Amino acid sequence: MDRLKDQVLIVTGGAHGIGRAYCEGLAAEGARIVVADIDGNGADAVAAALGEAGHDALAVAADVSQPESTENMARAAMERFGRIDGLVNNAAIYQRPAVTRGPFEEIPLDEWDRLMAVNLRGVFLSCRAVVPHMKEQGSGKIVNISSGTVFNGSAQMLHYVTSKAGVIGLTRALARELGDYNINVNAVAPGLTVSMDEHDEEKEIRFQTRMQARSLKRLETPQDLVGAVLFLCSSDSDFMTGQTMVVDGGAQMH
Ligand SMILES: NC(=O)c1ccc[n+]([C@@H]2O[C@H](COP(=O)([O-])OP(=O)(O)OC[C@H]3O[C@@H](n4cnc5c(N)ncnc54)[C@H](O)[C@@H]3O)[C@@H](O)[C@H]2O)c1
Repeated sequence: MDRLKDQVLIVTGGAHGIGRAYCEGLAAEGARIVVADIDGNGADAVAAALGEAGHDALAVAADVSQPESTENMARAAMERFGRIDGLVNNAAIYQRPAVTRGPFEEIPLDEWDRLMAVNLRGVFLSCRAVVPHMKEQGSGKIVNISSGTVFNGSAQMLHYVTSKAGVIGLTRALARELGDYNINVNAVAPGLTVSMDEHDEEKEIRFQTRMQARSLKRLETPQDLVGAVLFLCSSDSDFMTGQTMVVDGGAQMH
């Protein structure tokens, strides 16, 4: 299948979890993938596995909260592939490292700041590094990963939910700024997804509770999210921008 044939797509946070599934799913449609992650070894491993499967992939160690790092990410993509067709802003503080859950008054200030720097500033910085190349090409697709927690108003992780709400605002406003350059900016809001190997009892309860709140009563897997991201990276979504696709088995009807 070649729906993304030869397109160059950067996936931030591509070394683990759902980001890895995006890398694999987009590569399977013919895309050349830049796996960018703060875990450089993890990114190397994913790029190597993609290479072994016959795909073209590049690993870049990148901390999306740092401007030099996102500039380097874009430069490395340009040096290797000569163009950037898409950017999937997936990197976030969520599980690796784990976000602190609890009453909002107890969120450590430094965790609030670090989380905003990665989850929100990281999206801004990655866009800032990549957009000049897209403008020059006259096209581009940006897909920002938000979260269903925004629509649910999920309690006990105020900083995370706030950062992901910011991602939706950024998506809408940036879509307006970049429309004249034929650059689409959209968001995907996943529901609670099984993206870690290890599970403890508390997580299991959360998964079961969320499952019961869905129209489609089953666990959500990383694979469930690939189709929406693929669609937003492909020409099938050429006339869609500033939108948020909620992929959560019908928990939120947004
Ligand atoms: N898993 C879920 O239930 C769920 C639900 C809704 C939204 N999301 C969102 O989907 C995305 C992926 O979720 P996941 O469960 O795979 O998360 P995860 O925590 O397992 O993976 C995040 C990835 O981002 C990388 N990363 C962390 N900080 C980084 C930084 N500063 N620079 C570059 N890379 C960095 C990590 O190394 C990791 O590879 C996140 O944006 C998350 O907020 C997840």
